Order: sequence, then C-alpha cells, then structure tokens
Amino acid sequence: MRVLVTGGAGFIGSNFVHHLVRHTDAVVTVLDKLTYAASQASLEGLPTERVSLVVGDVADQPLVERLAGEHDAIVHFAAESHNDNSLTEPGPFIQTNLVGTFCVLEAARKHGTRLHHISTDEVYGDLELDDPQRFTEATPYNPSSPYSAAKAGSDHLVRAWVRSFGVQATISNCSNNYGPWQHVEKFIPRQITNVLGGQRPKVYGTGTNVRDWIHAEDHSSAVWTILQRGRIGETYLIGADGERNNLDVVALILGHLGRAPDDFDLVADRAGHDLRYAIDSTKLRDELGWRPAYPDFEAGLAGTIEWYRDHEAWWRPHKQATEAAYAAKGQA
Ligand code: NAD
Ligand code: DAU
Repeated sequence: MRVLVTGGAGFIGSNFVHHLVRHTDAVVTVLDKLTYAASQASLEGLPTERVSLVVGDVADQPLVERLAGEHDAIVHFAAESHNDNSLTEPGPFIQTNLVGTFCVLEAARKHGTRLHHISTDEVYGDLELDDPQRFTEATPYNPSSPYSAAKAGSDHLVRAWVRSFGVQATISNCSNNYGPWQHVEKFIPRQITNVLGGQRPKVYGTGTNVRDWIHAEDHSSAVWTILQRGRIGETYLIGADGERNNLDVVALILGHLGRAPDDFDLVADRAGHDLRYAIDSTKLRDELGWRPAYPDFEAGLAGTIEWYRDHEAWWRPHKQATEAAYAAKGQA
C-alpha cells in the first residue's frame, strides 16, 4: 500500500510513520510544510526505500492532487495543533485546518483515493469534573477555541464530501497524546524539559483540568486499524482510559525526576480553558477489536520522560524560543 501521510514530520504523524515501517509493508510519502512544529530529525533513520519526504503545503491544490493520484490512501494529520497559538494568531488554523482539509478532500475526490481524517476530542467541548458521561460518537459538537472550532469544521467538510461526492473517508477523534517526538510547547514535554533544565513546571490556573492521555503508539495502531477495517463514512473515537488532572501529571514527572511534588508554579490560565475531556472508545474496541498496548499511563509516562532525558539534542533547539513565547504571555 502506498500511503500519503500529511503532517508526517510532526509529533503524531512521525510516530505513525515509524509505526507503519515497523508493523506494515506500506510505502510512505510524508507531505509536510515543515512549520515550527515539525522536525525532520523525527524521521531520521527510517529506510529511504520505504519513506520519502515532500516539503509542501496541504493547501497547495495542484501538489496535493498530484500526490493523491500516486497513492492508495491518504492519512491526513497536517494541522496547526496548539490551542494557545490559536488564541494569539488564529489565521493559520483557518488556513491549514479548514482550507488544507478542503484541498485534501478535493484531491481524494478527483482520484477516488481512500482518506482517513485525523481529528480531536476537543470538537465536543468539555465536561464537568463529576459528569459520569464520556464523549461518544453521538456527542454534539461544541468546540471552545479557534483550534477546536477549525478542527470541528474540517470534520464537517469530510462528512459532506462523503455524503455529497462519495469520497471514501473515515474520521477519528482522539484524546490527548503523549510520547516521543512531541514539541516542547505541549504540556507533558514542556514540564519534563523544564525539570531536566533545572526549571519549575508551569501549571495553568488551578491545575484541576483533566485530560484523557493516550500514548501516540496506541493512536497509531488505532488509525491503522481504522484505515484497514473501518466502515466508510464512520467516525471512531480513540482513547485509552487515561484521565488524569494536570496537578497529578506534574507530580508524576517531578517524582520520577527526584523532585518534590510541590516544586512547580501556578501561572496565568488559558482563555476559555476546557475543563475535562474523556473518551468512550467502545465502538472502536467492539467493532474493530482494537486495544491499547499502553494501558498503564504511569509506565508510558516514565518511558516518555526517559526518552526526553536521552534525546536532549532533539528538543533543545526548540526550548528557548518556546519559553520566550510563554514568558511574553505571563505563562513562564
Ligand atoms: P504537530 O503540531 O506536532 O504536527 C503538525 C504537523 O503538520 C507539523 O509537522 C507541521 O509542519 C505540519 N503542517 C502544519 N501546517 C501544514 C500545512 N499547511 N501543510 C503541510 N503540513 C503542515 O501536531 P500533532 O500533535 O502531531 O497533531 C497531528 C494531528 O492530530 C492534528 O490534526 C491534530 O489536530 C490531531 N490530534 C492531536 C492530538 C494531540 O494530542 N496532539 C490529539 C488528537 C488529535
Ligand atoms: O484533546 C486532544 C488535544 O490535546 C489535541 O487536539 C491538541 O492538538 C493537543 O495540543 C492537546 O490539546 P490541549 O490543549 O489539551 O494540550 P496542551 O498540551 O496544550 O495542554 C494540556 C493541559 O495542560 C491543558 O489543560 C492546559 C495545561 N497546560 C498546558 C501547558 C502548555 C498547563 O497547565 N501548562 C502548560 O505549560
């Protein structure tokens, strides 16, 4: 199978490319604009006969159409992905997440290429801390931020192209990923690299917000499962029952690295900060038989901390500029 992976030099996309090389026969083309969030180093060491990189924009219609015609499937990860950035500069989120997805859909339509669209649980808004419900495929859309609203719009585009034009697409909405190759702007790598660099973790607001953590390797195996066996036009929620609040995650990081559990700072909260996400992945498990390989969050987090300890050369070049941007917003 020839697979076009958009955004394959980013965090989850690069994990997915490694997964394909390890577990499948797929030949992969990565299409990536190499924004600040990308790292070519995340693809280093992969066999060149299996993986090639095209530097380009998913909103470049002729380019995406040509590539779609040369592949059996497209897995569409490319996006602006960071909520905080969408609050300071929403424009790129509209351009890439909406216009870019439109271009991918038109290319898939032209060539009849199988498409899997990667989305997020944030399209559903947030839950109260004591709400017994979790998100399911039937939960109404209610996005909070420019990022999640643009992702919600991209999901609607995919559904419309399936229904109106018969595009062969599936959608998945996944919870918060952690693992290797995640940019240091994001919560878990920011706190790990702060501690490794002798700084204190920075927690927004009161730290009681809950995220439902899943290892990026489990996201990858779920996406491959859906690409192979998912029903066209269907949406599948991906999650691994990893709910933790931010204070608990920081305490685990501090504990693993030998620091006191209260050795962190509370900083200015995020505007419109979603309180809690929680995924019910019953459909994916029952219909397609998927199971996570990393059901133990504490063990997965420990491995991730060790990965960052061992890969300072990978994250160090991004750290200073990231922290300067947080400092300018009063979050450092
Ligand atoms: P990321 O920011 O780490 O990577 C995004 C990649 O897309 C980068 O390599 C970037 O260069 C590329 N890109 C951005 N704009 C582009 C454009 N116009 N053309 C081509 N490439 C472009 O993001 P991530 O965390 O790996 O997220 C990947 C996808 O997964 C996104 O669609 C995101 O919405 C979704 N998602 C992320 C999470 C999470 O926890 N990170 C959870 C659920 C879903
Ligand atoms: O739920 C899926 C989403 O998860 C994806 O769609 C997004 O692309 C991905 O970035 C992530 O969004 P979040 O906003 O939940 O992730 P982030 O890592 O930015 O923040 C996680 C939590 O940690 C959130 O409650 C905000 C908080 N936080 C974040 C940072 C960067 C802090 O307390 N301190 C920080 O320094």
